[in-house]
Amino acid sequence: MTNDAIIEESIQGTATVLKNTLQPENKHKKVYIETYGCHMNFSDSEIVASILKDQNYITTDNEYDADLLFINTCSIRDKAEQTVRNRLNQLKNIKKKNSKVKVGILGCMAERLKTKLLEEEQLVDMVVGPDSYRKLPEMIDETNTGQKSVNVFLSKEETYEEIRPVRLNTNGVSAFISIMRGCDNMCSFCVVPFTRGRERSRDPFSILAEAKDLFDRGYKEVCLLGQNVDSYSWKNPETNININFADLLRMVAETDQSLRVRFSTSHPKDITDQVLHTINKHDNICNYIHLPVQSGNSEVLERMNRTYDRAWYMERIKAIWNIIPDCAISTDIITGFCGETEAQHKDTLSMMEFVKYDLAYMFKYSERPGTLAEKKYADDIPEQVKRNRLNEIIEKQQKHSEHRNKKHLNEVFLVLIEGVSKRSKEHLFGRNDQNKIVIFPKGKHKIGEYVNVFVNRCTSATLFGDVVYN
Ligand code: SAH
Ligand code: SF4
Ligand code: F3S
Repeated sequence: MTNDAIIEESIQGTATVLKNTLQPENKHKKVYIETYGCHMNFSDSEIVASILKDQNYITTDNEYDADLLFINTCSIRDKAEQTVRNRLNQLKNIKKKNSKVKVGILGCMAERLKTKLLEEEQLVDMVVGPDSYRKLPEMIDETNTGQKSVNVFLSKEETYEEIRPVRLNTNGVSAFISIMRGCDNMCSFCVVPFTRGRERSRDPFSILAEAKDLFDRGYKEVCLLGQNVDSYSWKNPETNININFADLLRMVAETDQSLRVRFSTSHPKDITDQVLHTINKHDNICNYIHLPVQSGNSEVLERMNRTYDRAWYMERIKAIWNIIPDCAISTDIITGFCGETEAQHKDTLSMMEFVKYDLAYMFKYSERPGTLAEKKYADDIPEQVKRNRLNEIIEKQQKHSEHRNKKHLNEVFLVLIEGVSKRSKEHLFGRNDQNKIVIFPKGKHKIGEYVNVFVNRCTSATLFGDVVYN
């Protein structure tokens, strides 16, 4: 058996299935892991795979062939939960054919619904919250005696810091590194503080070791993950010296000049000039910032408990433009939040005009049980109005993405090659510093190489060009 897993990515709706082509030996047990939600959840699935690897499990992409079926779930919007419910319905067939298979619900939905999930979904054997993955071996043993097992304890310390994640689904070029867990912000619309618990930062030396290990294994890019990376803070217990996010960025960037560093997500209230100067100073820290605005209106931002207002956000955008002139900026926007008037919605549109985001993730407000907004404000914007407003911002964003991409025409970018283009085997794709996808003819180039590409064509989503040699 070869241990070199050839990994392939598969997006099914919003789900990512961990696939590999390991030829399983009989003595191995098999786990199928399907992941929904954000990158942090995806990164957690890699931690789960690592914990189970020590228990002699390998991952499989064939749900009919698995001993364990794990769904790593997301609760961010109602639709995310409905998708998982539908998927569980489909899995009933598998359990009918193979009664020995154990089904586990992991992640945010497990944390939110706890034992209720066992009552509501008969086929579920395990409910495992995001801080309980170390307990999986014992939980599996418990289910093997015919019992159901639930662990949704939220920890103030767990960062899984010393666990080397099994890199599945990988292109061998770029990998996520989780630098912190949880969130202390309590945005009124958001379920994350309830599903992920208190914010805690991971030991920076374990982060550096992970980055170095990835680089030594040929990876060329790391993305540092946290719900609010700017509030990263770790105090060395021996020296009492504090490491903040700017320090961490610099330390990771110094791993090697040819290792690209990305990060997500920045919070407008916490992103400092020190971070911006650090990005500008290091060529290998990418000039791309995801800075969710949520709304362009100060009153709505206050109801959202975002703790910044319109003027503050605009000042931070100007600071980015001043310190990192060619920085790409993306955002998240929610339409139809409680009490949002037409005029307040227009403020979001005018904020978009001001920034002209390179990219935006746009959502209709979805009330989440237990959140501050659910308790305090009526979800009073009719569905149709939410949808109309969403369409309006999507339309605007489309224009801005195109506008930003057009500005890149006739420029040369350093592109890190990530894979073969989905549309043509003769073309490769990679990303530039600003996180834009760039497609170009393959020539003799290989995945993982850096190339200079002259951009001669674009759509709102993609840049096209040719490799230049000098
Ligand atoms: N930590 C990040 C975002 C995490 S969730 C931050 O602070 O920006 C990703 C995005 O989902 C959010 O930015 C928000 O735009 C969206 N979102 C969160 N809760 C939502 C809800 N209840 N309804 C609709 N969208 C929501
Ligand atoms: Fe949710 Fe706000 Fe925390 Fe982001 S910062 S995860 S939106 S509570
Ligand atoms: Fe979803 Fe949990 Fe991430 S709610 S967005 S999977 S932190």
